Amino acid sequence: MPRPALAMLNDVDRILISHDRIAARVAEIGRALARDLDALSEHPDEIVLVPILTGAIVFVADLIRYLPHKLRIGLVSVSSYPGRSIASKGALIRGSLPDRLAGKHVLIIDDILDTGQTLALVRSIVIEHGPADVRTCVLLRKQRSGAAAIEPDYVGFDIPDRFVVGYGLDYNDYYRNLPDLVTLRAEAMR
Ligand code: PRP
Repeated sequence: MPRPALAMLNDVDRILISHDRIAARVAEIGRALARDLDALSEHPDEIVLVPILTGAIVFVADLIRYLPHKLRIGLVSVSSYPGRSIASKGALIRGSLPDRLAGKHVLIIDDILDTGQTLALVRSIVIEHGPADVRTCVLLRKQRSGAAAIEPDYVGFDIPDRFVVGYGLDYNDYYRNLPDLVTLRAEAMR
């Protein structure tokens, strides 16, 4: 993997979770999920993954390669932290929703859980479609003072209540391609 450009590295405060640690944990979650999906369904075409754009793209791309099932992916787009926001502006669905969820085993996947509004919103919409069951999976869960709106079924890492980017997570749509999960220098967030 190439070294990230200086224009990004200069903005990094410190690495919170290295790409190697992320990769090892994604492998663990992937294997656990694969076992659970095996147990769930005799009919592999009944499994639908619902990744939440855009932050989940890197996580889900790595995760699905641990799932050998014949499954569908239905992307959903939700925005809570538009542009330079570092506090939630309220989760809003953008564009269309995945279809053909009735009677399916649905797994909603996101990069990070903060207030939990995003995951709770998508879960409630999925439930309206009458799935057989719904599970939720996040790579990161922020340790915050208030309770989150939802308790995910699978969590990669509990992290401090800091604004983080990399491995799919952004600030103003930048830094998603950083391999590590990092905090940014204050100067980079002006
Ligand atoms: C981020 C992140 C989660 C959500 C978590 O999305 O990707 O989907 O916020 O926050 P919550 O638990 O407080 O709802 P964002 O709105 O930044 O969109 P993005 O994925 O396109 O970056």
